[in-house]
Amino acid sequence: MNYFEQVSKAAAFLRTRIAASSAAQPHRIGIVLGSGLGAVADAVTDAVIVPYADIPHFPQSTVEGHTGRIVAGQLGCVPVIVMQGRVHFYEGYTPAEVTFPMRVMGALGIRAVILTNAAGGIEEGYRVGQLVALADHINFMGWNPLTGPNEPRFSFTPGAALRFFDMTEAYSKRLRDCAKEAASAEGFALKEGVYLATPGPSFETPAEIRAFRGLGATLVGMSTVPETIVARHMGIEVLGLSCVTNLAAGLGKTQLSHEEVFEAGRQVENRLAALLKRLVPKIAAGLKTEAATESRPKVDRKP
Ligand code: HPA
Repeated sequence: MNYFEQVSKAAAFLRTRIAASSAAQPHRIGIVLGSGLGAVADAVTDAVIVPYADIPHFPQSTVEGHTGRIVAGQLGCVPVIVMQGRVHFYEGYTPAEVTFPMRVMGALGIRAVILTNAAGGIEEGYRVGQLVALADHINFMGWNPLTGPNEPRFSFTPGAALRFFDMTEAYSKRLRDCAKEAASAEGFALKEGVYLATPGPSFETPAEIRAFRGLGATLVGMSTVPETIVARHMGIEVLGLSCVTNLAAGLGKTQLSHEEVFEAGRQVENRLAALLKRLVPKIAAGLKTEAATESRPKVDRKP
């Protein structure tokens, strides 16, 4: 069975299992929860829970703090599919495996995805616990999940799944604006940042952080970028939300640890849940009006 067929099989399985969580409308919005942010899934009502272990071909998270289940239900009265926990390259998964869940989201009909993560803050002035909307990213993983033959059957939105496509606005301005509005209604300002992804699993050295700052990064982490690339390949709108769980290496007083990252994530969970509850209906409203014009990648020419 090839990769596309595996994705289709996983999606068909999930479609049947989660159908009861949204009888009236299809699920159009996906959410991926990063380290320490898993409890946001508790805000989902009428939830149908499917452990990753039950889903054919689905990779299993081996990281503490990544639960490993799909929670499908309603958030702010809008159907959502939440992935509570993700898998990473540093766990030993291949790029295709790391992005398998995002492919399944595409096959399920997801049109906008909110990718959350825990990140180290590089920009001066970031505080631990701050949420930052990604305006752009730098792929420092050393690989791209789209390497290999292009699979045109991943065109789940019109005109998508091109060999070459535009990444000028990888993170949707519309979704960022929705997120800023929702944050301001929640009483805080949402800044924008640039996320640099490393393969991990070691944290960075202070010299690396200085170099990354010079490259224009304001946040550093070990996820999200492969998912964003694959989501854009399928024509899915992306919102990236980082939770600054620590100041990046050399910028704070303490040594970095997974426990610190995890604990800081836990402290933001409630704020993130409240933000998402306000944000999801705004995103959904835009999806309806955009149905006729579909945002899509524009370029299939080799530059
Ligand atoms: N570096 C890389 N990944 C991270 C960090 C960090 O400082 N914090 C949370 N995830």
